[in-house]
Amino acid sequence: MSTLHNESCSPPAVIVIFGAAGDLTRRKLIPALFNLAKQELLPEQIAMVGIDRVEMDSQGYRDLLGEHIPDFVGEGFSRELWEANIGRAYYTAGDFLDDDSYRELARLLQQVDNEQGTPGNYLFYLATPPRFFGEIATRLGKAGLATEGDGHWRRIIIEKPFGHDLESARALNATLHQSFEEHQIYRIDHYLGKETVQNILTYRFGNGTVEPMWNHRYIDHVQITVAESLGVEGRAGYYEEAGALRDMVANHLLAVLSVIAMEPSNNFQADAIRDEQVKVLRAIQPFDPEQVLTEAVRGQYGEGVLDNGTHLRAYRDEPGVAADSGTETFVALKLMIDTWRWAGVPFYLRTGKRMPERRTEVVIQYRHAPNMMFRDSIAQRANIAANQLILRIQPDEGISMEFNAKVPGTVLQVSTVRMDFDYDDYFEESVAGSGYETLIYDCLCGDATLFKRADNIETCWALLQPILDVWSALPARDFPNYPAGSWGAAEADELLARDGRQWRRID
Ligand SMILES: NC(=O)c1ccc[n+]([C@@H]2O[C@H](COP(=O)([O-])OP(=O)(O)OC[C@H]3O[C@@H](n4cnc5c(N)ncnc54)[C@H](OP(=O)(O)O)[C@@H]3O)[C@@H](O)[C@H]2O)c1
Repeated sequence: MSTLHNESCSPPAVIVIFGAAGDLTRRKLIPALFNLAKQELLPEQIAMVGIDRVEMDSQGYRDLLGEHIPDFVGEGFSRELWEANIGRAYYTAGDFLDDDSYRELARLLQQVDNEQGTPGNYLFYLATPPRFFGEIATRLGKAGLATEGDGHWRRIIIEKPFGHDLESARALNATLHQSFEEHQIYRIDHYLGKETVQNILTYRFGNGTVEPMWNHRYIDHVQITVAESLGVEGRAGYYEEAGALRDMVANHLLAVLSVIAMEPSNNFQADAIRDEQVKVLRAIQPFDPEQVLTEAVRGQYGEGVLDNGTHLRAYRDEPGVAADSGTETFVALKLMIDTWRWAGVPFYLRTGKRMPERRTEVVIQYRHAPNMMFRDSIAQRANIAANQLILRIQPDEGISMEFNAKVPGTVLQVSTVRMDFDYDDYFEESVAGSGYETLIYDCLCGDATLFKRADNIETCWALLQPILDVWSALPARDFPNYPAGSWGAAEADELLARDGRQWRRID
């Protein structure tokens, strides 16, 4: 898998970006390509073709990219490296729904192959609104651009969101499969590209001391938090339709859960790892409508004030949001996994917008020590916390272990202390990037480990479909139910309190 590559394996190829003038391309994809070039992970013969509806020629496109790139790459930007590579970017203006655009694209690709010496390997990156995913794939197929042949491959990266429910995800998979075979399709979840998510696999399976305790005998429960401090930030049109369950749980949270909960695969091949991830997702107990009411919490932020006095407006007051919007901006769930390893261990998931800070972390809450020899002392059992392992995914990537130690002094007192591993302390040269570097590089190398397979996507939607159904049949009556700048709906606290547990205080 990707983390084992130790030298460039990327063959010559053309990366074709649909949505080349869009936000994702400018902010993430072009900077990611720049960072890959800087790390010398791209071959000599590599080129990029952008397609979008804005009228301009290749030179105009190069100029457009050049305007923003220093800001988006940040500190590591080098004008010299940019100038040396930008000549390999091409552009064609066209409508995604017009067959002529694909004829012109095919012609341009031929030209690029001739000029740059690329051998017909094409990576199509669909950085477009989701309604175009199936349409573009079908048209690429019709234009003969999806067909692999002797000595060349064709691959397609599909952005998120992949469908908006089980039925639409199945339909999109069926459409894609008419033009591309499954091995050609790379469904992106940029969380899986993050260093720390990948490091969970290394931590779990690369250390002899971790796995023996990674099960119901030692673990009381698991918490996964993906907190965003931002609101909808001009994406109300999309978010009003999506909500937090579709936007975050269907992909990122379940992706993290699958990495935490999967069984080890017997090799590092993409399909062996992805088989294990799907297996554990399938083992999650399905929700019946009754459970949706008790074990799935939704919330929407109202106005609030941050500690520093900043006033934050309510979701319903954001531009583009309906005054009576029923869209959830917060979700908390309790999931149970029916496997030998996880029997009786709840996985609590929560995600929300306008939380006090941006933070993604996994908490492994261990059980209490079986026998408290301190029970007759001042340090009563109840006061001695059970050990916690905290996997910090963003920001400040690292791993912390909280355990108990004796407070120095004559009287026996026990206090929780913390052992911290910070990526930055150990690895001087942190790898620049957003995770898109890894994903683009892996796709060029033909490594699909960090991408979602059709069965994974459909399993996630099948799990969430009962919640979507109940929530759409019973619109929330208590929205807004948490102030912006807080940790979400009180019901999420009750979800754990009922089980005698609480969310880890994030500080
Ligand atoms: N932006 C992010 O940070 C981010 C993060 C994660 C995932 N994503 C996903 O990435 C994808 C792209 O997002 P984005 O924010 O980059 O969207 P975007 O800014 O709207 O970019 C899409 C581009 O496609 C163009 N376009 C739309 N319809 C077209 C047509 N019929 N023919 C030709 N060009 C057309 C748009 O032109 P107009 O501007 O003229 O419409 C725009 O330049 C989405 O699936 C999104 O969910 C984005």
